[in-house]
Amino acid sequence: MSQDHAAEINYTDTQAFKRGMRQLTGAVCIITADHAGARAGLTATAVCSVCAEPPRLLVGINRAGRSYALVRDAGAFCVNVLAEDGLALAQRFAMPVEGLDERFATGGWEAGVTGSPVLPGALAAFECRVHDIVEVGTHGMVIGDVVAVRTNEAIGPLLYMNGQFGSLMPLAG
Ligand SMILES: Cc1cc2nc3c(=O)[nH]c(=O)nc-3n(C[C@H](O)[C@H](O)[C@H](O)COP(=O)(O)O)c2cc1C
Repeated sequence: MSQDHAAEINYTDTQAFKRGMRQLTGAVCIITADHAGARAGLTATAVCSVCAEPPRLLVGINRAGRSYALVRDAGAFCVNVLAEDGLALAQRFAMPVEGLDERFATGGWEAGVTGSPVLPGALAAFECRVHDIVEVGTHGMVIGDVVAVRTNEAIGPLLYMNGQFGSLMPLAG
């Protein structure tokens, strides 16, 4: 985008943006990576599909966090989509803890094909190799080539909206 074009944009204020984004319900995921035996992972809702051919997805990670550099340096990551029984894990992976590895104390994490930690109870686990990273403002948009997928569709998803976790109540129809 040219400088001229950027100058024409009237940005809304940050608080209004956050108020709006709080109304966008997200599926709760844990993004994990392992770099030379050091594991990291964070709770994230900024996850979306990019394309199916080839299978590719996008995660948005705050560059100021501890996990970002490890994901980047590992060159691989896993997106673990949490089921509704994953609330405690979602909270643990969003909280500051002394050692990043402590976040993996529960859940029975396994090393996947890329070495990234995979949660056996996840609704879906997308193992990815980093295709590209685009740094945008405070965040890194990490685009991954999906190299393996595990699914487990027995229960419903863990959701997040307006500062609260919840589960899906399907409508009849
Ligand atoms: C429901 C929820 C969704 C979140 N989504 C994201 C996200 O998409 N990207 C991100 O960078 N942080 C997100 N966070 C914040 C991180 O989980 C949190 O800052 C974490 O401590 C970062 O860990 P790190 O310091 O190891 O990177 C989210 C937190 C919660 C509770």
